[in-house]
This record gives sequence, structure tokens and C-alpha cells, in this order.
Amino acid sequence: MAKILIINGSPRKKNTYGLLKRIEKEFSGDTIEFINVSDYDVKACVGCEQCLRKGVCHINDDATKILDKMVEADGIIIGAPVYLRQIPGNLKNIFDRGCAWYHRSPIVGKPIFFVTTTQVTGTKSLMSYFKDLTVQWGVIYAGSINKTLFNLEKPYKIKKLDKFKKYSNKDNIIKYRPSMKQIFEFHTQKVLASEILPLDKTFWEEKGYMDKPYFYTCRINIVTRLLGYLYYKFLQNIISKNKTV
Ligand SMILES: Cc1cc2nc3c(=O)[nH]c(=O)nc-3n(C[C@H](O)[C@H](O)[C@H](O)COP(=O)(O)O)c2cc1C
Repeated sequence: MAKILIINGSPRKKNTYGLLKRIEKEFSGDTIEFINVSDYDVKACVGCEQCLRKGVCHINDDATKILDKMVEADGIIIGAPVYLRQIPGNLKNIFDRGCAWYHRSPIVGKPIFFVTTTQVTGTKSLMSYFKDLTVQWGVIYAGSINKTLFNLEKPYKIKKLDKFKKYSNKDNIIKYRPSMKQIFEFHTQKVLASEILPLDKTFWEEKGYMDKPYFYTCRINIVTRLLGYLYYKFLQNIISKNKTV
């Protein structure tokens, strides 16, 4: 039985909420928590970078409550309406407040599924942002259901949720095959951890990531593994040269 977190990132409980509620019904047997970001007080990041450098955020509000729920879940479904081709500000605030996750992700290997609604436009650019987020967080992009207001009420293919359900069971993670982009991003983060931020270095060493081809054991073929390693050495070389200048 998996623990699924569903996040409605809209400031209101209407189109995205309704679609997420339909999707929630596909998870009988699992433990579901459904939250609306509008029910939480999450302030905008002030840019102090204390989370990156010291591992603490001095803003006292509900951001950590939501971020902690994401850490505790086995799988996360994030719903968002398109706002000017992007996510709404209140949802963005949560991700910004978890900025350190770009360096020290506490949710690697979890599947994330996205649900979007729009009047007509912007789905592609919104999904591009979401997909990039998954690469940075080291999570598994498990697909999406994207609706315009013209087809909002039409059924979606239940099969779309198969990948998400599969990887919500942690035992299946070993079968996952990360993309080249994910491998390269892993090594970029590794170089930053080893050469730039001391807090990242400690975290990466404690997690045992430094000697690994990816965050966790999964399917990586020998060529991808080698390319990842060479890319890491290349980046490390550039950074150490610049450090000594
Ligand atoms: C501030 C704002 C910006 C929006 N931007 C777009 C847009 O760029 N393209 C579009 O087709 N619809 C846009 N919409 C419409 C919403 O994406 C659409 O109505 C969505 O389904 C609302 O979801 P909700 O009911 O969950 O809030 C926008 C709506 C708002 C309020």
C-alpha cells in the first residue's frame, strides 16, 4: 500500500481540483492525502540563500509542512492551472522555498505525476518547467494528464497512471532507466557538491552519492555510465582550473 500525496496547486477549488478529485478515485487501496496549497500560508522566498548555505529557512510559515509531506510520500501528484504559460505564484512559492532541493534533494527516486488545466494555451511550456524540475530533484517523471476547458470533462486514459503506480512501490525503482539528461544533471550536481558548497559536499558524502553513477541503483547501460563519468571528470577539470587561477 503506497502513500500518495495529491497537491492542488490552484488558488481555487475548481477545474484542476475537480480533475484531481477524479484521479484520486483511481487509487483505492492506497493511502491518499489531498491538499490544496490555498489552505496553507506560504510566503515568497526572500532570496537570502540561507537554505543553500546553512540548511535553514528563517521564514516561519507553512512551507515546510508541505515540503515535509512531499518527503514522506511514496508518490506525488501535482496539479496546476496554466497561469500565463507558467504555474500559479503560490505553487511556485513552495518550490522556491525548497530551493535547496536542487542541490540536496530529499525526494530522489519518487515518482511525480502532473495534472494541468488551461483555457487553451501554455500547457507545453508549463510541462517543460515541470519536467525540468523532476530532473533537478532526481525524481521519476511519471507522466501527465493535461486538459483544456474544451475537453476537461472527457475521460482520460487510466493507463496513463500505470508508471506512477509502478514506481510508487519502492521495490520497482531498480527497474527504472534514467535518461542521459538525468545522468548528466546528477554529475553536474555532484561537481557542484564536491567543489563549491561545503554543505552539499557533506550531504552528498553522507548519502554515498560521490562514487555512484546515479542517486540510486537502477538500470544504466555501460555507455551511459561511461559518458556520465567522462562528463563529470570534464566538469571537475574546468572548475579546479578556474579555482587555481
Ligand atoms: C492569472 C491567470 C492566468 C491564466 N493564463 C492562461 C494562459 O496563459 N492560457 C490559457 O489558456 N489559460 C489561462 N488561464 C486560464 C486557466 O488556466 C484555466 O481557467 C484553468 O483551468 C483554471 O484552473 P483552476 O480552476 O483550477 O484555477 C489563466 C487564468 C488566470 C486566472
